[in-house]
Order: sequence, then structure tokens, then C-alpha cells
Amino acid sequence: MNTKIWLSSPHMGTNEFKNVKEAFDTNWIAPLGPHVDGFERDLAEFLGEGVHVAALSSGTAALHLALIMLGVQAGDEVICQSMTFSASANPIAYQGATPVFVDSEDRTWNMSPDLLEAAIEDRISKGKKPKAIIVVHLYGMPAEMDRIMAIADLFAIPVVEDAAEALGSTYKGRKLGTFGAMSILSFNGNKIITTSGGGALVSNNEAHIKQARFLATQARDAAPHYQHSHIGYNYRMSNVCAAIGRGQMDVLLDRVQQRRANYSFYREELSAIPAIQFAEEPNATYYSNRWLSTVLVDDSQGVSREDIRLALEKENIESRPLWKPMHLQPVFEGAPYYGDGTSERLFDQGLCLPSGSNMTDEQRRRVVNCIKACFTQ
Ligand SMILES: Cc1ncc(COP(=O)(O)O)c(C=O)c1O
Repeated sequence: MNTKIWLSSPHMGTNEFKNVKEAFDTNWIAPLGPHVDGFERDLAEFLGEGVHVAALSSGTAALHLALIMLGVQAGDEVICQSMTFSASANPIAYQGATPVFVDSEDRTWNMSPDLLEAAIEDRISKGKKPKAIIVVHLYGMPAEMDRIMAIADLFAIPVVEDAAEALGSTYKGRKLGTFGAMSILSFNGNKIITTSGGGALVSNNEAHIKQARFLATQARDAAPHYQHSHIGYNYRMSNVCAAIGRGQMDVLLDRVQQRRANYSFYREELSAIPAIQFAEEPNATYYSNRWLSTVLVDDSQGVSREDIRLALEKENIESRPLWKPMHLQPVFEGAPYYGDGTSERLFDQGLCLPSGSNMTDEQRRRVVNCIKACFTQ
């Protein structure tokens, strides 16, 4: 059997282990400590725009706290991109609110500004103004932020930017994760950098970030005993995970280049196959970290996305269909949805190719040879 090629596996640099050892040597094994403060500073410096950062146990926890900070409560409605991972939408349900799903556009595969505007107008006409808008930068590709922010501003609805997959991407030269009233990042094991598990909440509003840190550490009031005036959460990142994160920040820009090189390689090797279409950056103002390289497969040539996925699987190569839209998920059945079928088509035709920044030339060659063979049989 050929050795396994993973979709996106962790890729450590040289400083991570040194930092973790230092955390052990100094016995900072708690969900607080100098590496947590340092990781927050590193992230804030990298993102720029004067943001503040709270390091948390996951991107999902960050989304949950973002909705809490924005006052989302039971009975509220929150607009969410339909085409995404379920973690973008689940925190809406944690708050007892209702998700209103909005379809994607062809250009970026992210939230369609036209459908967003239509959805907001329709919800308002039905008597309920959405409390927040969750926009996602899928696979690292920036959403059309100018138009989305303009629509959100017009209706005075705060944007939560789900940049879980998009650290290192930029839109009009500005880092993703700095556009939303609240933004989130993920450092899950498959992401462009990882802390084994973790996330961050980002905002220009320092008071919100301070409050998020307070809520994330069980909402302990200032008292020598345990005193609580709020419901709290255990959502803080540990000092050991943050030690890994600081080392990963040292190599983030290399990881972006390595993932972008994967995309360029696949594109060069496979673009002669007319059935395969790549997710291009719409113009030079969109800069994707290419967290995952993704393609669409037009099955009218006789080879489907599933044919390719199964052929890769036979060769011990992991690939995966694009995210199944939330409006098609049984758990969100009946939730309001505004769409034109774009995300359904993307889901039917789309495939994520192995995209790890630690892939060797030989591994990438195995992937393209296997895909090419699907079209020559
Ligand atoms: C788009 C998106 N949002 C949210 C998350 C949740 O992040 P986490 O796994 O750190 O909770 C992920 C990834 O896991 C994601 O891909």
C-alpha cells in the first residue's frame, strides 16, 4: 500500500517544541500564562488595524462568545453563510436563536451580497431584523467584503467574520479577520497553523475582548472567593497550546507560500483537463492563503467528482467533497434560506485536494497522476 497522503496535516516548525519545553520547565501548564499573552500579542501584531485578541479553546468557542458579546439571545435571528462547516452555525443554536441561511456567489463561493441584501429586506418585512451576519472566507478565499460591509452598515447589523480557514489571506491588502465587529480564527489540527486545538476572538473593541476573556474563564468576579454575577464558560486556551501557536506564528507566512504553491502546481498540471475548473481569485485584490486547493468537476465529460475522490482513496490519498450547505443539513431543516442553487451545485461538483504545507513534490505528483488517469481510461 502507498503511504497515506492526508488532506491537511499539522506542520510544525523549529520553535514550537522549544516553547512547549519552556512551558514545562517553568511549570506554566495552566489555561493562562506568558505564552497565552504572547500569542495574543503576536496575532494582534500580525493582523494589524489596531485589533485586540483573546486566545480561546476553539474557533467554535470564539464564535459563541462573539454572538454573546453582540447580544444574540433566544428568539433572535442571525444570518449565516449556508456553505460552510457546521461550526459557523451551531453557536446560533447554542444561544437559542434561529439561523437564516444565505447562499454563495460563483466568484468567491462565499456569501452573495445580492442574496444577503434580499434576505435582510425580507426578514425586516416579516417583522424581525437580524441581530448579526456571519460571513465565512471558505478555504481561505476572501468574501466580497466591501459590498458585504456596506450592506451591513446600511442596515446597522454587526458582522461576525468567520476567518477560521483564512489566517494569512488579505482583501484589498487588509488581513482577513480584521473586518468584522467580531472576527474568529481557528487553530484546529487541520488549519494553516495549529495549536493542536484552539481559536481566537478578534475585535477592534478592547472592552469586548476583555469581557470575552472574563466570560471564557468562568466569569469570576474580582473577589478572593469564587463569586459570579454572570454565566461563564471554560473557553480559554492553555499556555501549552499557546506555546505551540507562538512557534507556528514564526512560520505562518512560509505556510501560506507552501499552500499557494500546492494550488499553482495543481492548476498547472490539471488545467488542460476541460472538466476541471479551479477556484480562481477574482482579481488582484483577493489574496487567498489557499488553505485547501479546491476544484469543480463537470461530470458531463463522463468523470464525476465522486469518481475522482474514490480513485484517490484507492491510492490511499485523502480528498473531500466541499462543505455540504447548512440549508441541506437535517439538523437545520426548516430554517429560513435565501438562495439560487449556487452552493448546491458547488457541493455536487466540488472536491478539496490534499493541501498540506508539508506535502512533498512526489506526493503532489501522485495526486495529479491519479486524477489524470481518471480521464484517460
Ligand atoms: C469555517 C469554519 N468555522 C469554524 C470552525 C471551527 O473551528 P474549531 O474547530 O477551532 O472550533 C472551522 C473549523 O474547524 C471552520 O472551518
